Amino acid sequence: MSKKIASARISEKSSQLLQDLNNSLPFDKLLYHEDIEGSRAHAYMLSQQGIISQEDYMKIETGLTEILEEIESGIFTLDGDDEDIHMAVEGRLTQKIGDAGKRLHTARSRNDQVALDFRLYVQKSTKNIALLLLENIATFVKIAEANVEVMLPGMTHLQHAQPINFGYHMMAYASMFKRDYERFVSSHERNNFSPIGCAALAGTPHPINRQITSDKLGFSAPTLNCLDTVSDRDFALEILFNISMMMMHMSRLSEELILWSASEFRWITLSDRHATGSSIMPQKKNPDIPELLRGKTGRVNGNLVGLLTVMKGLPLAYNKDMQEDKEGVFDSVRTALLGLQVLNEMMAEMTVNKERMEAACMIGHLSATDLADYLVREAGLPFRDAYHITGNAVNLAEAKGLDISELSLSDLQSIDERIGEDVVMLLDNRASMNARQSEGGTATVRTLEQVGSLKAWLLKQSRTCRQ
Ligand code: ARG
Repeated sequence: MSKKIASARISEKSSQLLQDLNNSLPFDKLLYHEDIEGSRAHAYMLSQQGIISQEDYMKIETGLTEILEEIESGIFTLDGDDEDIHMAVEGRLTQKIGDAGKRLHTARSRNDQVALDFRLYVQKSTKNIALLLLENIATFVKIAEANVEVMLPGMTHLQHAQPINFGYHMMAYASMFKRDYERFVSSHERNNFSPIGCAALAGTPHPINRQITSDKLGFSAPTLNCLDTVSDRDFALEILFNISMMMMHMSRLSEELILWSASEFRWITLSDRHATGSSIMPQKKNPDIPELLRGKTGRVNGNLVGLLTVMKGLPLAYNKDMQEDKEGVFDSVRTALLGLQVLNEMMAEMTVNKERMEAACMIGHLSATDLADYLVREAGLPFRDAYHITGNAVNLAEAKGLDISELSLSDLQSIDERIGEDVVMLLDNRASMNARQSEGGTATVRTLEQVGSLKAWLLKQSRTCRQ
């Protein structure tokens, strides 16, 4: 029996059950590109430092390039019984180039190798998610700009509260996704340090140069402490948290889209490309996309809590428990990338039903606060007194089956004679919305200001992304 390449003192062939439990190749094969990229940088450094010969380095470099091609063209299928992607690539390399392949693992352990591969994957995914977030923010801003005059009832407790415009509502989501974007960018910066060269846990006696590998792989610098580096999965937890937070925002939006699509609302219509039918009820048009985005948020939260729980009791340094770090991250990243793409497309093609939104503003006495504010401002009443007088006006409107904005001047004056004729205009919903001109408020001018500010921000980001 030929010895397994990473089992110097194990003499018996592993039980099939051990392999089923132990092998990570079925899922970590996703890291083949990062693994080969990392090995190339490591081999280059070894040759630069005179730890392996130039000749061996050239063989390794050529061998790894070929393996990459073999994997991408499907010749090398990564479905053998290798323990993981690292062993699979190293095994294939040695098969191809012989002894030179066996020198690749000098001054390296799978502990720093996996930390490197996984970090490269997380950093790349972080960038991809951030770019998609920018696209989504641009879509929100575009929808916002087109809808700054379209009124809808702003709500608290899901009850009609005050009139706002739909652009303003979209800018709320643009603001959330902007924070998400910034969170991904700052995680990228914080984690941009190279783990390779830490070896098993304590560094290595070989005269390596970690700066060389760090530069070659595009990191800012090597990590500080090897023991921490091989034990650390904070970068993986950060992307999981960032995705959870972002998906929580996406889920709240999804909830609103589902609600707004319901017959009782009909404030928006999702395009037929983004709705599904029912197998039995021919009339149905269901909002499956937002429902799935809302549902998948549960799963990504599970991935975050799962890895936090895996890590919480582990002594330093590497423990095999840490192999459980990957599937949840792969799943959350896949979900985030797909979710952001589908959300962007669906939002861009959604129809805003202006008439329905504005008709809803006539329910719920949305401008009641304006009457109270008027009494404070014009009649010098304490707010609490003004609040109670306004309550009486609301009761009168209810009794008459009207909205407060539809009460006549004499109706209003029958409640309190300090109410002047200028109030009638103030109680109009549009006037009420546009009166909220305080910074960050819903008035159309203020919403446009927010739109302008995010447009300028987006321009700045796309410039830095292109650099
Ligand atoms: N497949 C392993 C993982 O994903 C690679 C690291 C193995 N290291 C070790 N010392 N067994 O964590």
